[in-house]
Amino acid sequence: MKEFKLNNGITMPSVGIGTFLLEPKDAENSVKEALKLGYRLIDTANAYMNERAVGRGIKESGVDRKEIFLSTKLWPTEYENPNAVDETLERLGTNYIDLLFIHQPTKNWREGYKQLVNAYKKGKIKAIGISNFESEINEVLAEFDVKPQVIQVECHPFFPQDELRTITKKEEIKIMSWYPLGGKDMTGELLNNPIIINLANKYHKSTAQIVLRWHTQMGFIVIPGSKNVEHIKDNIDIFDFCLSNEDMNEILKLNKHQRRYIRSDEALVNYLNWKITYEEK
Ligand SMILES: NC(=O)c1ccc[n+]([C@@H]2O[C@H](COP(=O)([O-])OP(=O)(O)OC[C@H]3O[C@@H](n4cnc5c(N)ncnc54)[C@H](OP(=O)(O)O)[C@@H]3O)[C@@H](O)[C@H]2O)c1
Repeated sequence: MKEFKLNNGITMPSVGIGTFLLEPKDAENSVKEALKLGYRLIDTANAYMNERAVGRGIKESGVDRKEIFLSTKLWPTEYENPNAVDETLERLGTNYIDLLFIHQPTKNWREGYKQLVNAYKKGKIKAIGISNFESEINEVLAEFDVKPQVIQVECHPFFPQDELRTITKKEEIKIMSWYPLGGKDMTGELLNNPIIINLANKYHKSTAQIVLRWHTQMGFIVIPGSKNVEHIKDNIDIFDFCLSNEDMNEILKLNKHQRRYIRSDEALVNYLNWKITYEEK
């Protein structure tokens, strides 16, 4: 498994499993099976309402917590809750988080970022992340003396984050791709694209493996979501081949320069009114 080094010196796996839209029982099973298959990175969030299930999956896998890189995200309604980090730890059944994000750049994001910095200084989290930040990344860098290690954003061959990549390269912040396979509604469009199919035939790999390998060669951390054990198995089996520069450039031709998820000011305001119903103990 290839690992990436973050700007604070810690390393993290380049491939993991995502748990967005997974019901608790599916999240628990996907995490358990993924860890048994050799995954060591898991991504969840307060808002996925499956953190307890992720914690159960980790325990059932039998894999030592110290071997696992666990990432989760504070939802904006938690940014001003002084117990948000401790409550997240409790739900996950762990005493530290490897990478904690603030999930959305809502108007109170600075309060959330301060919580991350405090938790980082106390050793409760090992790395700091921001998610769905666009131009606000410049404000984070200008206003805080502790910079983030990772930014999690929509990223795939149809939208390879050209603009953001200039800043992240300069600041040595890693991009973690969400919707790496195009997301639930666009997976078909991406995985059935003729360029991707040709490459799958050329390298004797599946189309998903071609796309995921492209992410890691671009330097992106990738966390495909799945509740299908065969897919989970395939998605990590991407280290026995390497896409040539020519083929990497071929995939870049798919760039539509248009993200799928267009955020609105209204959506950011609405996020502050979301009620998260956490799973009971
Ligand atoms: N920060 C954010 O705001 C944000 C937003 C969205 C997502 N995320 C994170 O990013 C992760 C990835 O995003 P995502 O799960 O939405 O999208 P995704 O990984 O691009 O796509 C998931 C879809 O791909 C299918 N799939 C997975 N492996 C496959 C394979 N080998 N062949 C064919 N189909 C396959 C899955 O179906 P099966 O279950 O049938 O395999 C599922 O429908 C999330 O799980 C979450 O952790 C973060």
